[in-house]
Amino acid sequence: MKKRNLLILILFILTFSATIVSITSCNKIFPEMINPENGLCGPITLTSSQTLLFSAGNDQFFANRTSATGLGPYFVATGCGSCHSSDNRGHPFTILTRFGQTDSTGNKFLAEGGPQLGTFCLPGYTPETIPAGATSTKLIAPITAGVGFLEAVPDSEIIAMANANVNNPNGVRGHPNYNAIPSYVTPLSGAIQRADGKYICRFGRKAAVYNLFQQVALAYNHDMGITSSYMPYNPFNYQDEAMPTTPATPEIDNNTFYSVVFYVTALQTPIQRNATDATVIQGQNAFVKIGCADCHKQNLTTGYSAIQGLAYQTFQPFTDLLVHDMGPGDDDHYTEGDALTSEWRTTPLWGLGLAPCVQGGDVYLMHDGRAHSIQQAIQMHGGESAVSAANFSKLSSADQTAVIKFLQSL
Ligand code: HEC
Ligand code: HEC
Repeated sequence: MKKRNLLILILFILTFSATIVSITSCNKIFPEMINPENGLCGPITLTSSQTLLFSAGNDQFFANRTSATGLGPYFVATGCGSCHSSDNRGHPFTILTRFGQTDSTGNKFLAEGGPQLGTFCLPGYTPETIPAGATSTKLIAPITAGVGFLEAVPDSEIIAMANANVNNPNGVRGHPNYNAIPSYVTPLSGAIQRADGKYICRFGRKAAVYNLFQQVALAYNHDMGITSSYMPYNPFNYQDEAMPTTPATPEIDNNTFYSVVFYVTALQTPIQRNATDATVIQGQNAFVKIGCADCHKQNLTTGYSAIQGLAYQTFQPFTDLLVHDMGPGDDDHYTEGDALTSEWRTTPLWGLGLAPCVQGGDVYLMHDGRAHSIQQAIQMHGGESAVSAANFSKLSSADQTAVIKFLQSL
């Protein structure tokens, strides 16, 4: 073999083996997909173009913004994934603070930087503080897996669940949260509008947000200080400047924005583990018997959806999407829409057993994370849920353990 040909052969072998090494070591560069058996597990079944959109949104959801990519000047976290870890519940490290709304007439502190406190600011800016006279509340991130299914539940089903509670023997009532929606939000077909122009809302701890589109616009703007064409004003500090009145250039374009909306919409529901275990089944039966399922409804059904995998599906979120009066022990002195200070949307319980994986081995439950175990969360149930919480404490210890085991399987 000529010297030159030998050199080419060696070069070829080197390039080929380098390519093989980089392909086989991809899983060291890109994290492996989460095993569906372990719970939160990526998208529902999608077409190939939908998969590309989902994947673009996935990258954005877990990307961290910097000042060069629009972050701030006031913000609470640098990316969606810093709060909604693994698409599950958040950690108190990234708790957010709202202030300034005490009744249904709206937030009186918008000119003073309401409704949300910028926990952090970029260097050179004055740290934001809660203005004198404003009450405030703290919220940790709810689970995002499965939210597309919650969005596809027809308003009529939510109203039917509220109506069915009229004679509930445990004192459970609950109502949909009607709220005004911003002009950039298009009501879904079949949406029920009240005489005062307000719509049934369902996202957020008090169910004050209409749909995922609005939720993502709010999240970018309030949580990360990112302007979009839908929410074009940056959060500001009234101690330094007046409320901005000229729209800023969007820091996220509409296509990227929509990929994130699609990403959350197309997330699969959490999968229950150990569903056939005898103790889990015993716990589930007790959960229903003592009245927990009056609010934490196991089965909801979606209506029409433009995304085929979401249409006409029965799924298990353990919520009724209604807001309930949880009593004076769960009053945060803050209102949103029709939801009063002690009213909260029934938290979907799916993914609960996986919370320790994203909360450092502990759990931080309820809207502000102050319950450090499932038992503590149950003890904090007052108001409309007081009867079921009292029923829980009357169960035999074997049944109590079974209820907890059932909840940990979700
Ligand atoms: C600072 C932490 C934080 C960041 C960053 C954040 N979120 Fe959230 N998210 C929350 C909290 C807290 C709520 C509940 C808000 C409420 O009660 O109004 C929430 C609610 C939601 C919900 C509604 C869930 C439900 O069941 O009601 C979705 C969907 C969501 N966020 C998506 C996003 C997306 C997408 C991003 C990034 C663009 C994002 N979030 C960024 C904390 C955060
Ligand atoms: C009247 C309706 C109602 C009933 C009945 C009810 N809950 Fe709840 N539950 C709620 C609401 C509303 C919240 C959210 C409260 C908050 O965030 O402050 C909640 C929160 C929870 C949480 C915390 C979830 C999380 O991710 O933070 C758990 C666990 C829970 N409920 C379990 C139960 C169990 C077990 C029972 C029966 C003993 C029960 N609930 C009965 C309405 C109800």
